[in-house]
Amino acid sequence: MRPDLIEEASSLAPWSGCAFVPTMGALHEGHASLIRSAARGSRPVVVSIFVNPTQFGPSEDYARYPRTLEADLVTCAAAGAAAVFLPAIETIYPRGIDAAREDAAHLSLPAVATQPGLEDACRPGHFAGVVQVVSRLFELVRPAVAHFGEKDWQQLRVITDMVEMHPTRFDGLRIVPEPTVREDNGLAMSSRNRYLEPGQIEAARGLSRALQVACAAQHPGTAEALMHGTLEEHGLEVQYAVVRSAQSLMPVHGFEAPTRGLIAAKLGNVRLIDTMALPIWR
Ligand code: PAF
Repeated sequence: MRPDLIEEASSLAPWSGCAFVPTMGALHEGHASLIRSAARGSRPVVVSIFVNPTQFGPSEDYARYPRTLEADLVTCAAAGAAAVFLPAIETIYPRGIDAAREDAAHLSLPAVATQPGLEDACRPGHFAGVVQVVSRLFELVRPAVAHFGEKDWQQLRVITDMVEMHPTRFDGLRIVPEPTVREDNGLAMSSRNRYLEPGQIEAARGLSRALQVACAAQHPGTAEALMHGTLEEHGLEVQYAVVRSAQSLMPVHGFEAPTRGLIAAKLGNVRLIDTMALPIWR
């Protein structure tokens, strides 16, 4: 059945208490699995589709970000979404995009958003935009639970901490992490995989391979060196390839658990990220 389309914030009231899956569209099997998982609960599932300008840097892919609404609605329906929220930019940012960008710069962010050497180093301002749009969506939709993929591990940590910092504002909202969905060849699913040429897929597999190699390492330092080596062998330009505390995203010194490997690497103009839980080192 085709989900209800919600275009006005005033039509959201009956959906308060829903299970919510915020997205930027260009839905793939990873999103479908988030929606299916949300639909296994007892609450109706609302998916939002909104390409948020304030989380893109000036030289990033906001204008060319894939917009595939008709196919997205089919995916939402098949995965069990009851409604799809398609806000206009004015609904999210009533004072306009320039004012919104300025507001984002003044937001106070959870500490995990700015841990050195991770996303903030490569995409300054990105998490301010994410926190801004996600908190606005939460306030409009008023969900009881919201599902986020583990592939964007730092984003998941930022949003979880943001909600914990403001329990009253988000009214007891629970954030549910969902496992990364991979292609058979190991590549983590991402809307940006559409930018890859067929000949680049083998190189893109370097991210998941590097993380698998890190899983077998005996020490965090060795894991980082092995990840760098594997990424470079695949012709990827490494932005970071690190082992961090899964919770605080701080560097680990051998005895902290749980830990995660986190990678961002570029293949030409395409930026890819991936992450895996790593074993506990003793
Ligand atoms: O992960 C995403 O697609 C986006 O960052 C989100 C959470 C929908 C906010 O725009």
